[in-house]
Amino acid sequence: MINPAAFEKWETPFYYYDLSLLKETLGVYTSCLNKYGYHAHYALKANANDRILEEIRLAGLGADCVSGNEVTLALQSGFDPQKVVFAGVGKTDKEIITALKGDIFSFNCESIPEIEVINNLAAGLGKKARISLRINPDVDAHTHKYITTGKAQNKFGISHWMFDQVWDVVSRCTHVQLIGLHFHVGSQITNIGVFKALCHRVNEFQRWFVNKGAELPVVNLGGGLGVNYHAPFEHRIVDFNSFFELIHQNLIVLPGQEVHFEPGRALVAQCGYLISRVIYVKKGRGIKFAILDAGMNDLIRPALYSAHHHIVNLSSKGRDMRYQVVGPVCESSDRFAKSVLLPQTQRGDFIALCTAGAYGQVMAMRYNQRDIAPAYYSDQL
Ligand code: LLP
Repeated sequence: MINPAAFEKWETPFYYYDLSLLKETLGVYTSCLNKYGYHAHYALKANANDRILEEIRLAGLGADCVSGNEVTLALQSGFDPQKVVFAGVGKTDKEIITALKGDIFSFNCESIPEIEVINNLAAGLGKKARISLRINPDVDAHTHKYITTGKAQNKFGISHWMFDQVWDVVSRCTHVQLIGLHFHVGSQITNIGVFKALCHRVNEFQRWFVNKGAELPVVNLGGGLGVNYHAPFEHRIVDFNSFFELIHQNLIVLPGQEVHFEPGRALVAQCGYLISRVIYVKKGRGIKFAILDAGMNDLIRPALYSAHHHIVNLSSKGRDMRYQVVGPVCESSDRFAKSVLLPQTQRGDFIALCTAGAYGQVMAMRYNQRDIAPAYYSDQL
């Protein structure tokens, strides 16, 4: 693994990114994508660091954004506007105008009032906005309920019982052009059968719109592909080939239609680590606490979703002992592991929290007035 001596020069906690793994992952991903002639927009929300975005842009991907600021960042980072898509249930007028002026590829629309507002704002700017309809397919992603987005009870997308009404609105709105349907049913999906079920729903819904006379040059299946948090070193790169093969087998692609995806986590999770040091080891009832200088404000996933992140002591080769690994924040939920075996751990040891490249640094906050952990990259070692 990583030699901790190389980290001595940086104050902990910090995020560390292995750029060669990122490049390798992108290489595998794009070669699978190209095999089928598919297109991808990287979900900026997973990690928006400039160096990460640069690698992704150079690999030829577009950008999937969920806020006006993400649209601005994608354009400033050099992403081709014609590869930028914009989703989200609550796009404000200001954000829509930003995207209209940026001439992005598509708004992924999530409601009738949103389509009407985009139509009016586009008319005001003398433009025609390309839109896709984000459909809520009522497919269970079998993942954590906080990151499930495609069930009927979720706030996302347009349900099938609204289709007639939506079709009337789209036909009436002269400043929007419908270019396709969009789906995103959840994140950290490890049961690949979910995507098979999704394809079948997509086929059904596309048929409905085509029967109405719609032209759908694009279909976008979103992101969601999960990674292995339990054995990150054995599963560095997701089996993209099986994923795309399953899509290829199950999705009915309309003549001339482009198939798009919005990967986030699967591209960047494994290349990132949160690196911290042990401040104290303290005896508790029946367990020892290893108290880190990284906390839930740096990586909130364990506290928010009870997420598992593999923990490695980079400094010790001692015999295995059980620890509860916690942060310094004044919350009992500031805990990275309830009970984990680590080689005998002491003050000053370097601890790596693995698979932290996605939804780690982007979700950091300043609770307790703590600093935001900086990012360092493998070529700075
Ligand atoms: N497209 C849309 C419209 C999305 O909302 C998302 C993620 C993606 C694509 C990318 O999904 P991915 O391939 O990364 O699964 N903070 C949570 C994850 C939230 C995901 C939100 N949407 C976590 O830490 O697990």
